[in-house]
Amino acid sequence: MARHLITSALPYINGIKHLGNMVGSMLPADVYSRYMRQRGHDVLYICATDEHGTPAELAAKDAGQSVDAFCAEQHDAQKAIYDGFGLAFDHFGRSSSQQNVELTQHFARKLHENGFIEERAIRQVYSNADERFLPDRYIVGTCPHCGYDKARGDQCENCTRVLDPTDLIDARSAISGSSDLEVRETKHLFLLQSKLQGEVEKFIDEAGEEWPTLASSIARKWLTEGLHDRSITRDLDWGVPVPADVWPDLAAEGKVFYVWFDAPIEYIGSTKEWADAAPDGEVRDWKSWWYEADDVRYTEFMAKDNVPFHSVMFPATQLGTREPWKKVDFLKAFNWLNYYGGKFSTSQQRGIFTDAALELLPADYWRYFLIANAPESDDTSFTWELFSSSVNKDLADTLGNFVNRVLSFSRKRFGDEVPAGAEAGEAEAKLGEDIARLLAEYEGHMEALQFRKAAASLRALWSAGNSYLEEKAPWLEIKTDKDAAALTLRTAMNLIHLYSVISEPFIPSSAKAMRGAFDLADDTALWVTQDEAKALSSVPAGTSFTVPPVLFAKITEDDLAAYKDRFGGEE
Ligand code: 2FM
Ligand code: ZN
Repeated sequence: MARHLITSALPYINGIKHLGNMVGSMLPADVYSRYMRQRGHDVLYICATDEHGTPAELAAKDAGQSVDAFCAEQHDAQKAIYDGFGLAFDHFGRSSSQQNVELTQHFARKLHENGFIEERAIRQVYSNADERFLPDRYIVGTCPHCGYDKARGDQCENCTRVLDPTDLIDARSAISGSSDLEVRETKHLFLLQSKLQGEVEKFIDEAGEEWPTLASSIARKWLTEGLHDRSITRDLDWGVPVPADVWPDLAAEGKVFYVWFDAPIEYIGSTKEWADAAPDGEVRDWKSWWYEADDVRYTEFMAKDNVPFHSVMFPATQLGTREPWKKVDFLKAFNWLNYYGGKFSTSQQRGIFTDAALELLPADYWRYFLIANAPESDDTSFTWELFSSSVNKDLADTLGNFVNRVLSFSRKRFGDEVPAGAEAGEAEAKLGEDIARLLAEYEGHMEALQFRKAAASLRALWSAGNSYLEEKAPWLEIKTDKDAAALTLRTAMNLIHLYSVISEPFIPSSAKAMRGAFDLADDTALWVTQDEAKALSSVPAGTSFTVPPVLFAKITEDDLAAYKDRFGGEE
């Protein structure tokens, strides 16, 4: 047993996430956490909403709410959806928490003490009407390249060109609409990453060795380009304030830290939130997970666009404190999940959003499909055709049908208890060998965080049950040899129990229904080992059982047409 710290990239607060966001971070982190818990490890799975930055301020403004109220509401809305998806976080925090404010300020103080933060004056747009400096995207105007009249100071949405706010024609404030703007000099804090280049390189040489290529190649690319000093403060009302004891001038001007400075620190902040929320009598030591935590293995999950921040910038921030903070051991990155070959898009509402997905079908359908098709080695595409064939074939036909057929048939012929009779023979020995081999494969893939491959092994385990059943045909055996039929059904019921254990990380609700069919003491939900004797004998003859309702309903042609119609199912 070891201690495993697991985090998934913090979803932005501004709006409900789509399935692409889900499969690239939170869902695989949950599957892995569940698996590691099952194997008896001490697991802490931490996530939170990423609440600071311009997008949060703008989204709150659009919603006509204070940023505070907007974030509180959106946090709860996202949390409810993740509960619906069965994401079993130990804590789902908020980057705006007091815990994160204090930790972020602590990191900044330490970086300052060690000479890794410097004040620099830069020229920035000031709005007289709003009495504030404007971040680039708070300035709108006409694009000098294409003439689009709502181009933002950082980029033109129409022609996608990257802009400088001073490029805009008829520039005005996105807050008040005022064009009374001027360029003023103002001070910001810069993180001197260039000074940490060597140390970060050494860190990636050591830790990155083990990472999947997707993660390590992105990290190396950034290092090759050289670490640049980065501004880590912004002129926003909402964010972690710059501590006044260290930088009184900047604090007086209301500067806050840049969202990408405080967001990764919230992994630690959220752990502290978890500890602070401990029920009476329970001791939760947040620091033991993060500080001098050499016995902890830390795994991070994220989509590929987040890799630079997690592989290079956050480690640089941690190293610069000269304190022994836990750094990432294994960085699992994902490519994009597309929607019919195009991008899922939040701004264009293209694709399937997590709230809509749960209204349509139970979480397990999505969980299984997404993990079985996770964009691990390449981008992959969601199509309704692929989704429905995978649900129908794997979940309904292979797993669900097996469970129902075996339990219903046994009850009809033998009553409410697992039937006794006949000793395991050659077919059972062969099944045991197959199961042991596939289980070993499954475990190997899970240990290596190869989710598609693990899903394939799981499918193969479900299929092995079907092949055994077809071969033994208890519906024929029963006509000539009741004992033989009893053996087949008892063995098949043991498989159902085995499936309930090994499928749990992927489809937790259905696994619970399968497990709940048998009247067994709780301790029998132990991990089933590769020892075939145990794998096929955890449910003894005489155990009472019930037949659960159909586990997975098939997606019909009509459903398919309706989904495509509603969500748009073409390139
Ligand atoms: O890309 C994103 O969705 C960011 N909100 C991820 C932040 S991860 C961490 F650093 F907080
Ligand atoms: Zn343009």
